[in-house]
Amino acid sequence: MSRAAVVAGVGGYVPPRVVTNDELAQRLDTSDTWIRTRTGIAQRHVVDAGTTTSDLAVEAGLRALKNASADGADLVIVATTTPDRPCPATAPAVAARLGLTDVPAYDVAAVCSGFVYALQAGSAAVTARFAERVLVIGAESFSTILDPADRTTSVIFGDGAGAVLLRAGEREEPGAVLDVHLGSDGSMADLITVRGGGVEERTRGAEPRPEDRYFRMDGKSVFFAAVRHMAESSRTVLASTGWEVADIDRLVGHQANIRIIQAVADQLGLPPERAVLNIDRVGNTSAASIPLALADGMANGLLTAGDRVLLTAFGGGATWGSATLTWPDLPVG
Ligand code: COA
Repeated sequence: MSRAAVVAGVGGYVPPRVVTNDELAQRLDTSDTWIRTRTGIAQRHVVDAGTTTSDLAVEAGLRALKNASADGADLVIVATTTPDRPCPATAPAVAARLGLTDVPAYDVAAVCSGFVYALQAGSAAVTARFAERVLVIGAESFSTILDPADRTTSVIFGDGAGAVLLRAGEREEPGAVLDVHLGSDGSMADLITVRGGGVEERTRGAEPRPEDRYFRMDGKSVFFAAVRHMAESSRTVLASTGWEVADIDRLVGHQANIRIIQAVADQLGLPPERAVLNIDRVGNTSAASIPLALADGMANGLLTAGDRVLLTAFGGGATWGSATLTWPDLPVG
């Protein structure tokens, strides 16, 4: 028997306000048909004024703790692209609001790969005996960084949070995080970026440009890079675990675009119906995407005890990562 991090609870939360494709089409040159056929998205949730990323993270964290019947954790990691403030990190505030004021807490910034990066950190903290229980949260208020006039990004992204509580256990038991593969290539930094708000802007010596506050993406290049790296990373982590593609019961891919997930499944040779999808209802929620899909898949009975699950993501940086785990026996609801 070898020590491993085991999924003990899962929780997801989306803010109540729903924005439909038709609503977007009232103010942008787009249509419900274009968005559905090109992305698979029918609606997304967005935060109301005054709601922050930590609010969403706390809700998801509470649900994961409740699902695990746990009263806390001894490490909190928040993956986010949309922290409440540039400084300090969002995780300590989230931990404090969960009643955890004396535990380590930090943010992970890997954009849409953030949850897989944070899962690796949480899992490694358990196997290294640094922590017995780790709360790993992905949370985003992505709508706050979108250019309302940019139809290429406004139709894709949504807000939400998902959380997983990891506990110390054995690699052989259901729920164990088996292997994680991560990668990055900073030469692709400009494909997905918010140019303003950082040191580059402050040291330029010129007035900040309002348009630099917004998220920008080269969608086409991202599409191809995402498919390539998610498929390659998936193959790498499958080889580490000793699984064949046919062994995978469920693919939980970053919900970037339904065509990206389908192309990854196609490249791997995996039947597309093994993919867990919630992009139609929540859009691309970046670092919250995979844990929200896990919560959704569990609630809908798509993830059942003993399933062999492959997670895979690609995001800004560029960053990418994949993980293998078996699904635990968790209470639903
Ligand atoms: N509504 C209507 N038309 C749109 C549109 C929108 N929201 N966005 C773009 N178009 C138009 C384009 O202007 C273009 O028109 P043209 O043919 O007259 O030039 C046409 O639709 C096709 O554009 P293209 O960019 O080739 O579309 P696409 O099929 O690549 O889809 C994305 C665009 C953004 C949906 C797609 O590239 C994508 O999903 N990329 C990855 C996004 C992502 O998830 N990133 C996050 C990190 S992984």
